[in-house]
Amino acid sequence: MIFVTRKMHFNAAHRVYQPNWSDEQNQACFGKCANANWHGHNYDLFVTVKGEINPETGFVVDLNWMKKIIEEHIIEELDHKNLNLDVPFMKDKMASTEVLAVEIFNILKPLLLGDTYALHGIKLVETERNFVEYFGN
Ligand code: NI
Repeated sequence: MIFVTRKMHFNAAHRVYQPNWSDEQNQACFGKCANANWHGHNYDLFVTVKGEINPETGFVVDLNWMKKIIEEHIIEELDHKNLNLDVPFMKDKMASTEVLAVEIFNILKPLLLGDTYALHGIKLVETERNFVEYFGN
């Protein structure tokens, strides 16, 4: 078993807030991420596939193909968008890195599945110091 990772990038705006809470509660829990007038992050997305090496190509998976899949289904949906307003799969969800990571994983899982490889996990980096990893359970 060997692991192959493609790094992608997008930027997006969001606001992390709980609509059932007061402004004070939101500010206390989410800090600047609760600011009413949105803010952006430069996200790095690491997508890791695991599998066996194809003896004919020497690859686990064609990374150029994988890049196109991620661009089409994830990056085009998220890049330069507002996570709270513009992204159908984030509708009515908390726009946190954790929730976004789970959604991205669930979209990619059936797309990055072959006879000899499967999605292993994703790492979603929101800031230099904060990132989330998700492996499907
Ligand atoms: Ni934020």
